[in-house]
Amino acid sequence: MSNDILKKLKEAVSFLKEKNSNHSEIGVVLGSGLGNFIHEIEVEFEIKYQEIPHFPVSTVEGHHGKLIFGKLAGKNVICMAGRFHYYEGYSAQDIIFPIRVLGMLGVKTLLLTNAAGGVNSKFNVGDIMLINDHISTQMVNPLIGKNIDELGVRFPDMSEPYKKDLLQKAKAIAARLNIDVHEGVYFGVTGPSYETRAEYKMIKIMGADAVGMSTVQECIAANHMGIAVFAASVITDLGIREDENIITHEEVLHFAKAAEPKLASIFKELIATL
Ligand code: HPA
Repeated sequence: MSNDILKKLKEAVSFLKEKNSNHSEIGVVLGSGLGNFIHEIEVEFEIKYQEIPHFPVSTVEGHHGKLIFGKLAGKNVICMAGRFHYYEGYSAQDIIFPIRVLGMLGVKTLLLTNAAGGVNSKFNVGDIMLINDHISTQMVNPLIGKNIDELGVRFPDMSEPYKKDLLQKAKAIAARLNIDVHEGVYFGVTGPSYETRAEYKMIKIMGADAVGMSTVQECIAANHMGIAVFAASVITDLGIREDENIITHEEVLHFAKAAEPKLASIFKELIATL
């Protein structure tokens, strides 16, 4: 089984290497409503996910579903425009397949974005939260199954899932750009239903600041391979509120798009330092 995955990974990697010789040590994954960021990239080569052998295909509105090789802030980057979610029906191993491909292509630093619901009472819609840790009680660990020793160890350490030096750099950049950011813990859920009032309360009590349906598994796969991770959430809705509490995907996309320029400036400056 793991040999089978490794074989598929190698096929996808050699296919991409044949198509394009751009070497990048920086990977970027764009979350819901954050796809406009691709316009900042000087594109050298792009390819739809469905054309890459063994790649899963994204089905969610607001996700472009292509891999882009190009330059951002003067650095070579590989950008995943659109990611794969557990709620779409993919296995945890499918979700991390592209991350492993990026790692095998030479990516050493992975920058992740996502839309998330805020449960910290200091948060407002449109805020940015830099992720300093995560809790994942509801997602299948993507490393379950025979370990692929070529990629990493059986029991990877997760004491610094989001690299402190990248977080410090991003905080300094945000301060310099006059962008207010929070720092906090991301709670990974499967979705696709948003949380009930009681669940948002539980998530807060458990020590998280925001909740979302992605990122955690990608982060675990990256840590398995020794890739340094930085991740940021756009707070698109507030789980904890006493009044009307209806959350829609449209609202999430709208607020993610609105906050995107702030996140894009932080990402660009951060990439420039890598
Ligand atoms: N919960 C889970 N996922 C999310 C949310 C939320 O409130 N907002 C955006 N993604």
